[in-house]
Amino acid sequence: MKKRENIVLMLARRRKSIREYRRDEDIPIEKILTAIEAALEAPSGRNCQPWRFIIIRDKGLKRRIREACEEAEKPFHQRVKGEFKKWLQDRGITWRKPFLEDAPILIAVYSDTECPYPSQSTWIAIAYLILAIEAEGLASLTYTPSKTSKVNEILGVPNRYRLETIIPVGYPSRDKRKEHRAALEERVFIDRWGNRLDITVK
Ligand SMILES: Cc1cc2nc3c(=O)[nH]c(=O)nc-3n(C[C@H](O)[C@H](O)[C@H](O)COP(=O)(O)O)c2cc1C
Repeated sequence: MKKRENIVLMLARRRKSIREYRRDEDIPIEKILTAIEAALEAPSGRNCQPWRFIIIRDKGLKRRIREACEEAEKPFHQRVKGEFKKWLQDRGITWRKPFLEDAPILIAVYSDTECPYPSQSTWIAIAYLILAIEAEGLASLTYTPSKTSKVNEILGVPNRYRLETIIPVGYPSRDKRKEHRAALEERVFIDRWGNRLDITVK
């Protein structure tokens, strides 16, 4: 089977999580709004469109969000052990979250808990969003804070909305290799669980 050109596949292959950003870069807000427009096209339970986005550029707010998130991360990083600890260490992931201050823009993504399937729908929108950010030539990370109440307080968010992720957006301060992905054959079965693909995709 010959693989045809597919723009989504190309963007998905290129995208990677970036945790180190160049500081003080100017990013045109239009790029962010275009990426969010893509997210607004996502499907959602009963078409409720439960997602809400807060674009954060203010340095003072970014600093307060970083402080709140770092405080909440400390207990997790003290607890974590074994293989997961090693995985985090290999990637330099600690309780410190400089990307929340260094990235020129943060996008806080909320779901409306009064909608059907709020998280499921919002995470589809997040997937659209991170690919669209990639298409704009920008880098991102889907950061999921350990505790969200303080961030909600800082941003003045009503109780019914749940913080799903905070996405820093900007330019990488250094290059990073793409994380390994399993091959099609390792993750896809045909007709029955365990039935391997007998098609070679080139
Ligand atoms: C639901 C979800 C939660 C994640 N939470 C975090 C997080 O809190 N901190 C972080 O540094 N990366 C987080 N990531 C990024 C993953 O670690 C990353 O996507 C994965 O290691 C694959 O790397 P890649 O995105 O560069 O391909 C999260 C990703 C997803 C989809």
